[in-house]
Amino acid sequence: MRIVLKLFAGLLLIFLLLVVCWNWRPASVPVVAVQGPMPAGFIWGVSSSAFQSEGGDVDSNWNRYNDRTPGQDRYGRSVDFRHRYRDDIELARTLGINTYRIGISWARIEPKKGQYDETELAYYDDLILALKQAGIAPLITLDHFTYPGWVLEQGAWSNPQTTADFVAYTRLIAQRYHADVHLWITFNEAAFFMAGEAGARKLGLHGILDMRRNLIRAHRQAYGVIHALDAQARVTSNIVWMGDHLRDAPLRWLTDWMFLDAVEDKCDVIAIDYYASDVVAVLKVGKHWKWPPDPPGLYRALKMLKAQYPGKPLLIAETGMATENGKPREDGIKREDVLRDGVYWTQHAREDGVKVIGYMVWSLTDNFEWGSYTPRFGLYTVNALTDPTLARIPTAAVPAYQQIIRDGGVGADYRPVLAQ
Ligand code: BGC
Repeated sequence: MRIVLKLFAGLLLIFLLLVVCWNWRPASVPVVAVQGPMPAGFIWGVSSSAFQSEGGDVDSNWNRYNDRTPGQDRYGRSVDFRHRYRDDIELARTLGINTYRIGISWARIEPKKGQYDETELAYYDDLILALKQAGIAPLITLDHFTYPGWVLEQGAWSNPQTTADFVAYTRLIAQRYHADVHLWITFNEAAFFMAGEAGARKLGLHGILDMRRNLIRAHRQAYGVIHALDAQARVTSNIVWMGDHLRDAPLRWLTDWMFLDAVEDKCDVIAIDYYASDVVAVLKVGKHWKWPPDPPGLYRALKMLKAQYPGKPLLIAETGMATENGKPREDGIKREDVLRDGVYWTQHAREDGVKVIGYMVWSLTDNFEWGSYTPRFGLYTVNALTDPTLARIPTAAVPAYQQIIRDGGVGADYRPVLAQ
């Protein structure tokens, strides 16, 4: 009986502690004037992925998932980046950015195992040339949740053969572009890639662990391949920021364990995708356009990452906010304010000793948000489902970003609009 009472008291204590801790997060930071612009060489960029913006009937896992999923928007041409990249690069150039995160679609260039499509390779050659001509450095993502249909047929990432095939693809791309590309992402958000594949391919625990092992090996080998060609290259795999509330910690640990912990020594930079600081709130509201953007949380995230990965440079590889089909948000939050505030807090963190090397906005244009065109993240809006011309319509965040880049950040008189 006494033991039962003790157990009960123990559980009660744990429960009470959990309740108390539920809302705990690092303290707010005083708002102060920023001291100056970002240094020369700071990365100002935009981010995109191949599948989400290129469009077209490519045989990839995601084209197949979309074809078989009735409730989703049809992928179609997406925003046709495949053919409009030169126009989009011109938009990027007028923003003033110095880095453009693009994706290479493995499925596009290797539609059949061992057979490369020269037309599609020529497209990427020209894309990289166009960026160079615009004075913009490319950051290449080798895998952003997609892979060829034949890889799916061989068991996707559950099959160790996929690691070997991915490394061969990486070698091809790195040999082709290493002179012009010095920043690389192997896998976008590997932990989320595993979660997505677990859902789409109905993977059990074994399947997930197999995928984990094969992705880790692939990253480690790809790192070696790229570094053998360019010792100065910076290679990483970006993570999603999982929040800084105490209640977010288990998810943070789990996602770190899934990938980053196992490849940290093979990441020259720690790259984060920052959309919110409160994962529970994000899960609760669900819809992208309801996610609560929290620019001050970016400061806290950068500080926490500095403590977790001392000495490593940090890159904000994606950050932004969504609207619903371009409509004003219900909470009144504006894209240009989130952008200016995000830059303010990044400058602030840098001035407080965080080695943050870049700020990359997701995304230049709206794109296919994994099944839907409704969430709009673009600096330029594109009505993919209703506008046959796919016109790029600037949002108010375009002049805001131009000004920020021109000035190297926000000025000393800038005070954040969004409260902590
Ligand atoms: C992904 C992007 C996605 C964005 C917004 C990131 O986690 O890398 O593919 O579009 O979030 O949801």
